[in-house]
Amino acid sequence: MFTEEITKVGYISRSVPTDKDLKTLILELKKEKNAVILAHYYVNPDIQALADVVGDSLALAHAAKKTNADIILFCGVHFMAETAKILNPNKKVLLPDLNAGCSLADSTPAEDFEAFKAAHPGAVVVSYINCSAEVKAMSDIICTSSNAVDIVNSIPLDKKIIFAPDKNLGTYVSKVTGRDMILWEGACVVHVNISLDKLKALQLKYPDAELIAHPECETEILELASFIGSTKALIDYAQESTNEVFIVATEAGILYKMRELMPNKLIIPAPALETNSCACSECPYMKMNTLEKVYNALYYELPEIQLDKAIIKKAAIALENMIAVK
Ligand code: 13P
Ligand code: SF4
Repeated sequence: MFTEEITKVGYISRSVPTDKDLKTLILELKKEKNAVILAHYYVNPDIQALADVVGDSLALAHAAKKTNADIILFCGVHFMAETAKILNPNKKVLLPDLNAGCSLADSTPAEDFEAFKAAHPGAVVVSYINCSAEVKAMSDIICTSSNAVDIVNSIPLDKKIIFAPDKNLGTYVSKVTGRDMILWEGACVVHVNISLDKLKALQLKYPDAELIAHPECETEILELASFIGSTKALIDYAQESTNEVFIVATEAGILYKMRELMPNKLIIPAPALETNSCACSECPYMKMNTLEKVYNALYYELPEIQLDKAIIKKAAIALENMIAVK
């Protein structure tokens, strides 16, 4: 019954109890089932507020690897939950909504990537963690936005490098490291939705604001930024800086943690091309995580991430190669 529902809609859509606050119910279930809740900075604030760990892709991968909990409930997107399963395969890994994908992972079908690899024999394959388990299994080493420069620097100078799937991150890393890389043409729909013109207008309005940006942004935006880094690096930078005003070019979910940690600083989201209620750029996949789906996922222990053992084995090598560098 549930299998059919999950295949059809991607999540359990049963109504949730209304006699108690949903947050309390989730925390009770979490304790009862010895589960850990991992959440990315881009998910809704109500989920970040109850998670055991809120972090960037790298921190969440480390948290998934070292947990002793029986269940990992991953409030993020599909490739992140897969990464948790690869790094800790004996745990039950749940994702509240299987539709929570990623435009970068979707841009890299395994068969196409295989052909791309074959066209560049001998190249070391560096894949950004935002890719499927199958693509990880075809890669030599994985990176995240927080360690991409170190990972590329760890590759011997005489080796050709394939970098996939984010061309913006790849271009940025290539500039910093001076390494020529063969780039896959993928992009994050959220970061390319930031408007350069509106951003420049915002900078004129707030001349004292410092622009900080995620490396998934387009080159023209990165060129204006005074600091570029992963979600965690952006938060740490703003906290350590004496500056009081920041324009933040990344997904809007990060604002919750930044404002919580820095109540006295003005944190302004970079404006989006396509306007929505917040006029900033939001990831539709991350926003598929809701408290109701989190509750149902924990209650029914579904949807569960299932991966082929051979894929886990190969993808784990590429992930462990990353962890060995940083
Ligand atoms: P980080 O959290 O690693 O910076 O990645 C951002 C992102 O796009 C996650 O999908
Ligand atoms: Fe993927 Fe971009 Fe959403 Fe991150 S923000 S999950 S890279 S679509």
